[in-house]
Amino acid sequence: MPLIRKAEPRDAEALSALMERTFRDTFEAVNSPGNMLIHCQASYSHAMQSREIRDPTIDTLVSEHDGQLVGFAQLRGARCKASTEAARPFEIQRLYVTKAWHGKGVAQGLMHEIIGLATNCGADLIWLGVWENNPRAIAFYEKHGFMQAGAHVFLLGLDPQRDLLMTRVIDPA
Ligand SMILES: CC(C)(COP(=O)(O)OP(=O)(O)OC[C@H]1O[C@@H](n2cnc3c(N)ncnc32)[C@H](O)[C@@H]1OP(=O)(O)O)[C@@H](O)C(=O)NCCC(=O)NCCS
Repeated sequence: MPLIRKAEPRDAEALSALMERTFRDTFEAVNSPGNMLIHCQASYSHAMQSREIRDPTIDTLVSEHDGQLVGFAQLRGARCKASTEAARPFEIQRLYVTKAWHGKGVAQGLMHEIIGLATNCGADLIWLGVWENNPRAIAFYEKHGFMQAGAHVFLLGLDPQRDLLMTRVIDPA
């Protein structure tokens, strides 16, 4: 089973490649090549991952199997866009696992770590945005206690898409 650890600066190149690959695997078939390219160029460069891994406001977790990265999550304490009473919200910005590891508990392991991290930093709510046309991810989040709490626009390249906002309250430790 893959191990979960915090990303280190040496992971930047492999992580940027994994980010682009998993994003394309998930969304390429149902989005235009132009919009995919704009998004990938703006989001997944090696330099950007080097910065994000070192950014103290972002937690980057990776899941590693036999020296290969097979999943990751990026998290940050950030104001929730949904209408909630949260005082200390924590955002799951990205959570992706390679196709070969879907349904095998890797995402579940990452979610377990995410909830632990959020709890340890005193967060009272975890939130995320997920494309309305991503039923597997929505089912996964519902399985882990998230509920729909609104929607917002996510710009994929030049295409304004509707993301569902999902939230999960954290019980005080
Ligand atoms: C979202 C993701 C992290 C979930 O991890 P996973 O290992 O696939 O999750 P699980 O298999 O534990 O749970 C997914 C649930 O969706 C169900 N499911 C599978 N395909 C589905 C579909 N097309 N529609 C609805 N539900 C679906 C599964 O049966 C499972 O529920 P179950 O355990 O009750 O049977 C993973 O699929 C992934 O990386 N996807 C691509 C990237 C992505 O979409 N990230 C989220 C961006 S917000």
